[in-house]
Amino acid sequence: MDTDLSLHASAPSPPTSPPGPKGLPVLGSLLDMGSDILGFFPKCAERYGDVVAFRLGSWPAVLLNHPDDVEHVFVDAHEDFIKNRFFWRQVTAIFGKGLLTNEGEDWLRHRRIAAPAFATRRVNDYADTMVQLTSEMLDTWTPGEVRNAHADMMSLTLRIAAKTLFDASVEADVAAMDNALNDITREITARFSRPFVIPDRVPLPGHVRYNRALRRIETIVTRIIAERQRHPGDRGDLLSALMRAHYDDGRPLSDKQLRDEAVTMLLAGHETTALALSWTVHLLSQHPSVDERLSAEVHRIIGKRRPVFEDLAELTYTGQIIIEAMRLYPPAWLIGREAVKDCEIGGYHLPSGTTIFVSPWIMHRDPRFFDDPLSFRPGRWTPEFTRQLPRFAYMPFGGGPRICIGKAFALMEASLILAAMVQRFRFQWGGDRPIKPSASITLRPKGGVPVRLHERENS
Ligand code: HEM
Repeated sequence: MDTDLSLHASAPSPPTSPPGPKGLPVLGSLLDMGSDILGFFPKCAERYGDVVAFRLGSWPAVLLNHPDDVEHVFVDAHEDFIKNRFFWRQVTAIFGKGLLTNEGEDWLRHRRIAAPAFATRRVNDYADTMVQLTSEMLDTWTPGEVRNAHADMMSLTLRIAAKTLFDASVEADVAAMDNALNDITREITARFSRPFVIPDRVPLPGHVRYNRALRRIETIVTRIIAERQRHPGDRGDLLSALMRAHYDDGRPLSDKQLRDEAVTMLLAGHETTALALSWTVHLLSQHPSVDERLSAEVHRIIGKRRPVFEDLAELTYTGQIIIEAMRLYPPAWLIGREAVKDCEIGGYHLPSGTTIFVSPWIMHRDPRFFDDPLSFRPGRWTPEFTRQLPRFAYMPFGGGPRICIGKAFALMEASLILAAMVQRFRFQWGGDRPIKPSASITLRPKGGVPVRLHERENS
């Protein structure tokens, strides 16, 4: 990869094209990116600075590493950008036109339909369900055993998303969903380094697994929707809102639209939160002093009773731990856009069609904004520190109109689950080698998070 990271032009004045790796003919930087995607982007940032240009096959792309430029794309000039087709065209079969990928008027209409299910007042009502399902999980844990905390978090957050948003139980589907997501992740990773799109119907082994995985997810979602259609009525959840919604001309959402929104919410709504918790558990197992302070806070505020929504305002260190874990390991580590008109960013002219990458993984580790950036220091998140931080130096949930709709849901869920776990258990690292992040659509812990459980003395 090093050989390819040479400047392709000395910057003319005024600069028209940002500096960046030259890459290979035809492929551009696809192979470098595909072989070490987590290394490729930071190396580009380190070598070329705040705006880095490269090519992904025939797609011109830039990586933005300054918070002001991110703010320009996400907020000030957001209408000049859409979700990046370089990535999303590869996974249309999964997300369809759900909220994550939709654009324009249709996106806005659907965002408005979904919004009430994520309003603060509504989200607070989900707290009891979150704690109840966590408590059921903890009842199955045995002190002394080694568990893959990541698998547990995936299963728990899936059950929480299904119950709160769809009033559905997915007990029997957890393993199928997990296998499906693994197959999809593997295929998406392979697609990152292809210069062209191979249609899903071409029977490559990866495609066969991908299509099968997709069918498994669709079966689960279709069943949830069909059950509700058999027993309609407003349950005040997301599915009720989607099923009651009408367009201006009186049409309800079609079955396909319902399917797209439901699949999107179920996928976007559980793995990311599971990852925030998995990385948190990993970090706690490595930092006993943080764990002790956390345990002290949880016992002081909650004692032995169940956590409730009202506790969150006082669980400040608990919240800081989640924020700091997502700084070091942002579940959505790469966010993309595509310019729909010529634009100027960071002093450079970028043509319409340029793919724009923004990486919380890089920004969150930038020493310009975070002292000692590689250290896990939840205490750094004082109100003063937060106030002086540039708006997009920390962006685990993105920003602007396309900010994560589940931000409040996820933050509450993560804090409640963490508090409930720490009340009863301490985590000791149970692996035989250091954990490695593996990046696809999300940032996953390779091989999971093996931890030995210890009962808290005061639990
Ligand atoms: C720690 C947990 C989470 C993280 C880190 C996260 C991260 C993100 C990010 C970065 C985006 C913006 C993507 C972009 O701008 O292209 C996003 C969008 C979205 N997220 Fe989340 N998310 C989390 C939890 C959730 C939850 C719990 C839900 C739903 C229950 C959810 C549903 C969505 C949806 C539907 C969008 C698209 C919103 C739109 O474009 O209008 N996310 N998320």
